[in-house]
Amino acid sequence: MPLPQLTIGDLKPRHPIIQGGMGIGVSLARLAGAVAKAGGIGIISCAQIGYQHPRFQRAPLKANLEAIATEYQKAKEIAGPEGIVGFNIMCAMNKYEKYVQRCVEVGADVIISGAGLPIHLPELVGAAKTKIAPIVSSAKAAKILLRTWAKRYQRTADFVVVEGPQAGGHLGFKYEDTAMKPEQMDEEFQHILKEVAVYEEQFQRKIPVIFAGGVFDRKDIDHYFQLGASGVQMASRFVVTEECDAPESYKKMYLNAQATDVEVIKSPVGMPGRALKNRFTERTKVEAHIPIAKCRSCLSYDHCDRKTIPYCITEMLLNAVTDQPEDGLVFAGGQVHRIKKMTTVPELMAELTEDN
Ligand SMILES: Cc1cc2nc3c(=O)[nH]c(=O)nc-3n(C[C@H](O)[C@H](O)[C@H](O)COP(=O)(O)O)c2cc1C
Repeated sequence: MPLPQLTIGDLKPRHPIIQGGMGIGVSLARLAGAVAKAGGIGIISCAQIGYQHPRFQRAPLKANLEAIATEYQKAKEIAGPEGIVGFNIMCAMNKYEKYVQRCVEVGADVIISGAGLPIHLPELVGAAKTKIAPIVSSAKAAKILLRTWAKRYQRTADFVVVEGPQAGGHLGFKYEDTAMKPEQMDEEFQHILKEVAVYEEQFQRKIPVIFAGGVFDRKDIDHYFQLGASGVQMASRFVVTEECDAPESYKKMYLNAQATDVEVIKSPVGMPGRALKNRFTERTKVEAHIPIAKCRSCLSYDHCDRKTIPYCITEMLLNAVTDQPEDGLVFAGGQVHRIKKMTTVPELMAELTEDN
């Protein structure tokens, strides 16, 4: 059976697959453009998006805002006229509103926003054509967010991304809930669908719900469609493609990962994060505070107390993508150990979407 059509307003990707945003520097123009060209939705991560920009060390915000335009343009060139490209912007980011406004200005097709609830996103996007989606991990979060958007802005989400505990990167769960069984998350997913249905009724429109976190193959995709999903968001599998923007050393960490190498770590953002065990994660177990070399004000003050954080998240994510993966934070999803070989985006998309 072919996979059902995903429709987000006037956006109709050939395949109902979103490549999840991966910061820092893992999903930039090259990966997002290739995914969009192959018929999925390509997502560029805004997290320190300008880290390779000559101005980044002196003026990180300026460099990041400039890079939003250049990465988007590049991704669209790769993607071609039909390609759908958007951005992932984490709520915890300092100057969040400036990032959103810039993405809207450059004409982003979609903005997906998590690591907190994007309460103000509708007012920042206004009447622009950019489609917006929150990332939620529970029915409670979905309810709070959608109710607030309906009351405050008389609008609803264009789609919703539900991220389960097997996802890579920051997780919207308490540390002890990150080991939740897949069946438990399937149940929560049903509750989220019910919450979303309330707003489908109120706004008389379909709100596609996308599942993310540990989706590995076509069997998984079919499973989430059976549960009522309209699409999936996948990230880890896209890391080990030639087009992924991360360096070879990063991709090698993925290829060498065993199941026992996947850990849930504490992030300075105040959320748990799923990552690969390495020299850095071992260091965090014995050092309460790894001194910060340079603060780039990446997180808002309520998310980062510079004096008490265990380590600087930007510094560690940057190490990971600048050929020091052993000494940096390498985020990865819970199924990473099943990835055995390097591939390309078209090959991966074909594997995931071909009729079975
Ligand atoms: C290396 C890496 C970096 C990530 N960075 C972000 C990010 O910047 N913002 C975000 O919302 N999610 C981030 N995520 C989560 C993904 O977008 C995605 O939802 C999740 O990893 C899906 O699970 P999977 O990797 O098992 O497919 C990241 C995931 C990985 C693996």
